[in-house]
Amino acid sequence: MPLNVIILAAGQGKRMNSILPKVLQPIAGRPMLAHVLATGRQLSADRLVVVYGHGGDQVRAAFAGDEGVSWALQAEQLGTGHAVAQALPACGEGMALILYGDCPLISPATLQKLLSAAGDGGMAVLTAHLDNPTGYGRIVRDPAGRIVRIVEQKDASDAERQIQEINTGFIAAPMARLRDWLPRLKNANAQGEYYLTDVIAMAVADGVSVAGVLAADPWEPAGVNDKRQLAELERVYQRQQADRLLAAGVTLIDPARFDLRGTVQHGQDLEIDVNVILEGDNHFGHGVRIGPNCYLRNVRLGDGVVIKANTVIEDSVIGAGSDLGPFARVRPDSVLGERVHIGNFVELKKARLGNGAKAGHLAYLGDAVIGERVNVSAGVITCNYDGANKFVTTIGDDAFIGSDSQLVAPVTIAPRAYVAAGSTITKDAPADALTICRARDQRSVTGWKRPTKPKAD
Ligand code: UD1
Ligand code: CA
Repeated sequence: MPLNVIILAAGQGKRMNSILPKVLQPIAGRPMLAHVLATGRQLSADRLVVVYGHGGDQVRAAFAGDEGVSWALQAEQLGTGHAVAQALPACGEGMALILYGDCPLISPATLQKLLSAAGDGGMAVLTAHLDNPTGYGRIVRDPAGRIVRIVEQKDASDAERQIQEINTGFIAAPMARLRDWLPRLKNANAQGEYYLTDVIAMAVADGVSVAGVLAADPWEPAGVNDKRQLAELERVYQRQQADRLLAAGVTLIDPARFDLRGTVQHGQDLEIDVNVILEGDNHFGHGVRIGPNCYLRNVRLGDGVVIKANTVIEDSVIGAGSDLGPFARVRPDSVLGERVHIGNFVELKKARLGNGAKAGHLAYLGDAVIGERVNVSAGVITCNYDGANKFVTTIGDDAFIGSDSQLVAPVTIAPRAYVAAGSTITKDAPADALTICRARDQRSVTGWKRPTKPKAD
């Protein structure tokens, strides 16, 4: 049967105290609404309809490139039933599944259960048992245990408020029935709102079966109203991801101190120390080890790569057997060959390094094409920027760049060239020769006196 996923996302989220609309607040670096849309897609929904309102321009702009989403404006928030009604014109036939832009952790598996429970032409509600159900709509059952209606906290009698089974809000219902029921909702209730929950009693009156599915994991249907709840769900989500990685054989020294804001594909024996953040899409080979406090975004690491503490790598490729850090910084578009060594306080930007190249200490290599087995000594700087334009430094295979040299680009160091320490290289350096360029030869001044502090009298 065709599936219409309707996502309610019109609420303001005042308690976020933020300019960013609530459903754009991130979990693992992606808007909550993006998580819910992804879940809808995993269910192979035929239609994805987002009911939006508050911060509408921002919300739509955030998903501007997303062709598969229909948008239904709810200009005034008159209740959840009214919100779903706004989505009807954008829906087709079959089943409707109501999701929420601020409930990002609901799983496809649970929703599949809900759809199965609704079956052909029936309804299903996802419920939960809470020790403290205050604030939620309560599931009212008849003596035989059948669901007969949902009553909101503010409309409930004292007896109904004792019910601990609550409505999570997730509902599956036949489209044709919703098209009949929603226009007939009344707002004569404590909040003056058109309640989606009132369709339960309508279903019962029409002889439509209403199944209750109990949420197995209390976090799944949880909603976010403020930053505290956002932070709470972030940790739950991160723990879920960590558990998946652990199950796949990854060593996480402390799963509570690991954050994945995106994806990671990995080989066997990936080992990740504490406080590592992986962002974007990452691809790691076998036997990769990442030390503490590293930040990697959109990175490819070959087999056996070792990243030492406090290293930052973005949008780059690191060949097998290479080691980087501690305190290395690899900026975008860097491509390192195999067995490359990048040591502490080395910054790379748009740098290519051939197999076996080394830059062990304190260097800046930007817009550089560096050959195989090149040794870049401490303090070497490629002067790639003249204040207006960027230029390339090219270094051939087996060249040696002495400490504290500046290579003023555009410049080429030929293969096997040897640049003496402290040289400022402005012209190409030839192969197999020593190139040296220092201000003047070293001299020693005899009889020179060290400065002293003036004497206090
Ligand atoms: C709703 C349910 C309640 C349930 C609870 C679970 C109704 C009437 N009540 O109550 O039974 O226990 O959720 O959290 O459905 N929204 C719109 N447009 C509107 C109103 C709401 O888009 O006009 C969206 C909100 O942004 C939010 C969601 O719908 O994401 C729920 O709305 P909210 O007002 O929080 O409903 P509750 O009163 O919590
Ligand atoms: Ca709510």
